Formats: sequence, C-alpha cells, structure tokens
Amino acid sequence: MPFIISWICVALFNVSVISGLIVVFHYKPSLAYESVQKLTFLIPYGDIFRELHYFSSEAFLLFTCLHVILELSKNKLTLSSSSWNYSVVALVVLFLLMFTGYVLKADLSGVSAGEVALSMIKQTPFLKYFLPLLQDNSLFIWKFYLWHILFLPILLVYALLLHVKTFRTKYFIVGLGISIICMMIFTMPADIVFDTSTIVHVKGPWFFRGAENLLMLGVQPLFVTLVLALPFLFLILYFYKEKYKKVLRYLLLIWCGVYALLSFI
Ligand code: HEM
Repeated sequence: MPFIISWICVALFNVSVISGLIVVFHYKPSLAYESVQKLTFLIPYGDIFRELHYFSSEAFLLFTCLHVILELSKNKLTLSSSSWNYSVVALVVLFLLMFTGYVLKADLSGVSAGEVALSMIKQTPFLKYFLPLLQDNSLFIWKFYLWHILFLPILLVYALLLHVKTFRTKYFIVGLGISIICMMIFTMPADIVFDTSTIVHVKGPWFFRGAENLLMLGVQPLFVTLVLALPFLFLILYFYKEKYKKVLRYLLLIWCGVYALLSFI
C-alpha cells in the first residue's frame, strides 16, 4: 500500500505538470484575471484543463501528505539521509507551488493571498531580504508567475529525482483517473470578482488559513512564519534524532490538530 501511494503521488505530479503546460498557453500575466476567465468560459475545453490542473494538484498534495503519514508510521526508515532531506525540500516546494498557483488565478482571493504573503515576508526579519524575489510593483503577478511555471517546477523535479531516483510512468493513468473522478465529484471554488460595491470575506488557500487567522488575531508575522516552518523542522529532525522519533511524531500530530483548529476559527 505505501508503495502504491508513493507512485500515485508521482503520477499526480505528472498530470499536474502536463495540465499546467496546457493552461499556460492561454495565460497572460499582464491580463491575468481576464485570461483565466477567458480560459474558463471561452476557450474550448479550457475549463476542463483548468479543472484537471486544479484537482490533480490538490490530489497530489493530499496523496503526498498521506505518503508522509504512512512513512512516519513505519518503524524503520529505509531512505538515505540525502533522500530524506530532498523529500522535505520537495514538500516545501510543493506547498509553494500550490500557493503561487492560487495567486495566479488573479481573482480577489488570489491577489489578496499574494498580498498577505508579501506583507508577511516584509515584516519577517530574515525573510524580508527575499522580498525582491516575489514583489514586482509594476506587475503584481509577474514574479509569482515565474516561480510557478519555471523555478519551482524545476526545483521540484530536481528534489523528487534525488528522492525517488527514478520516475515510473506506468501509474500515470491512475493519476489521471483520480483527477477525473475528483472533477466529477467536486466543484472547483468559484473565482471572486473584484467588486467594490459588495463586501466579501476573502480567504486564502485552505493550507494557509491557519496562518491568515493568526495574523488577523494580531500575532507577529515572525511567529506565524515559525509556526509554518515547524512541521518541516520536525520532519528533518525525525531522521537525525532516532531517540526522539516518538516525541516528534506526537509533536507533528499536535501541530496538525492545533493548525486545523486555527484554520476554522
Ligand atoms: C506540480 C506542479 C504544480 C502544482 C502543484 C500546481 C498547482 C496549481 C494550483 C493549485 C493552481 C490554482 C488553480 C486554480 O485555483 O485555479 C495553479 C494555477 C496555474 N498553474 Fe500550476 N501547478 C503546477 C505546475 C504548473 C506548471 C508546470 C505550469 C506551467 C508551465 C503551471 C501553470 C499554471 C497556470 C498558468 C495557472 C493559472 C491558471 C488557473 O488558475 O487555472 N502550473 N497551479
């Protein structure tokens, strides 16, 4: 079972990248919102490929979390230290890809999520030096776009190759099947139009809501950044601190519980 889940993750990654490569042909960073709407409502099959990209990416993230849980539940780790480290890097990159993708849809919720992230980085002592990598005053979307379609996918492929050593393609059809089943069962969240005449409560992607709520409660951005970094730190320590494996497993569990609660307040 854990073996199959890990290959489904790779398959979903392939579906996500291929569908991303299709939607990017109609995406214009200078007219981001308009081009996404055109893709959804005007371009033949555009909505289908957009949904495929969305659901394969969400399923990729969920299956990756399941894969991590299954690996942590094993008594003995079979990976080398470098393979373990690259798996944590791949996980961080995956969350960054999901986040930048959310910003790219460029509706009110996407742009707001991007602005919250930029202001969080600006107010975090060490991270603020990295702000020019994301912020572009002339075209808000531009650098998110570059990260999403180029740098992060390259980083993810690199980290995954060092983590899994080889890519099997025979599960691709399973990944495609899972994405299509999700498309049939669930509906994609509707884009929120920019309209100053009505008040809407915009939210970021589901995995960022806990952080957003902490910021709204007035918690310092530095602390919020540390909260977000904690699970990745626990995962790194998990490999090297053999004696504390059980403690780290509990800490991860507590973190997930608290973060889930914070996401719903
Ligand atoms: C595994 C890698 C990837 C993940 C996890 C991912 C994830 C996402 C997510 C979650 C969205 C938001 C979808 C929405 O809510 O509408 C998105 C949008 C987008 N992605 Fe990706 N993506 C990946 C790779 C790529 C690649 C390689 C490209 C192109 C070369 C790409 C191009 C786009 C474009 C143009 C959008 C905006 C259009 C839209 O919102 O549908 N993505 N991505």
